[in-house]
Amino acid sequence: MYINFWYVADQSQNITESPVKKKMLGQNFVLFRDTKGKVHCLSDVCVHRGGSLSGGKIVKDCIQCPYHGWQFNGKGKCQKIPSLDKGTKIPSRVKVDSYPTKELYGLVFCFLGDLPEKERCPIMKVSEYKQEGWRTTTQYFQFNIDYKRSIENGIDGAHNEFVHPTHGFSGEEDDYKSPSIDIKNTKWGTGFFSQMYAPPLKEKTMREASGRDENAVIEAGTGHHGISMLWTHIHPTPDIFIHQYMYETPIDETHTNLFLINTRNFLIEPEHDERVMERNQVVAFQDRDVLINLHPRLTPETIKNEFFVTMDRPIKRYRDLLDEWQQNGWRINIDEVSRTRMSHAYAVPSPGRRKTKGWVVDPIPILKP
Ligand code: FES
Ligand SMILES: [Fe+2]
Repeated sequence: MYINFWYVADQSQNITESPVKKKMLGQNFVLFRDTKGKVHCLSDVCVHRGGSLSGGKIVKDCIQCPYHGWQFNGKGKCQKIPSLDKGTKIPSRVKVDSYPTKELYGLVFCFLGDLPEKERCPIMKVSEYKQEGWRTTTQYFQFNIDYKRSIENGIDGAHNEFVHPTHGFSGEEDDYKSPSIDIKNTKWGTGFFSQMYAPPLKEKTMREASGRDENAVIEAGTGHHGISMLWTHIHPTPDIFIHQYMYETPIDETHTNLFLINTRNFLIEPEHDERVMERNQVVAFQDRDVLINLHPRLTPETIKNEFFVTMDRPIKRYRDLLDEWQQNGWRINIDEVSRTRMSHAYAVPSPGRRKTKGWVVDPIPILKP
């Protein structure tokens, strides 16, 4: 897992004025909304003696630790220590990491790292969100999979035919050949468009809406942005578009939260939402069922033990980016974290660590570049 990316903690509607604990990158965070409506995300570890802040309550826009009542504001700065000697000032070292947050597309994004704003990989845009002529639905899944394997699956143009009976011919069509792909790399990712030979949509209303009831060549594109964001554009006919945006957050190495924003420019009445979401769910579980059984479970450290073909080039590019991000010093040393897990708390370094010194909790171990 990698620090220094934006990750979705939850849907906006789930973050209220009561504290919630969220596990991301194998670490615990506390999120809450202040009286002005701003969402805060702090490391969950109290620097006093390790209380879990999310078990406390919000007092005057501060999170109050459930153990001895120390209060930390949204910036992580301690505002109150009930057990401090009279007349003593709160030492400046008493602070917890506080992470930048943004609310977009109904999701709460947290920047888990210390990289300055200008150097961060931007959040993937959903330009169709709430635009006229488009309908948006949001779905949430939690799967026992490695998010990197899931991103690789998203940019794997050869799996649809075999994993998704609704998209392909399930290997039954002799004429079928994986489409050629037109890859475009960006600073933070890779993607491609292709012309896919596909059967008509199986679901009746959707098929009728698409106006296509024969096999045809359709345009589809997919790509990843940063470490854990995916886009997929499907054009079943030249006028009908389904544009999907998936934001994945590793809870830990083998558990992933997936937030899917689906936008469509047909059947835009709300009564069709359920059908669209049902279909997306079926597809998501088809992917999960393959990913959950991969060996090894996690994206391998090297491609030496896999046989890549031309169609796998986007995945090779993703692996190259992973290497680059590891070289940047962004990859968590999971072995070290688990070795010391029982007796050592860590915090993902926040931007504040580049401004002030004297932090009490150690930064999470990072693999040496
Ligand atoms: S552990 Fe949090 S106040 Fe003591
Ligand atoms: Fe898939």
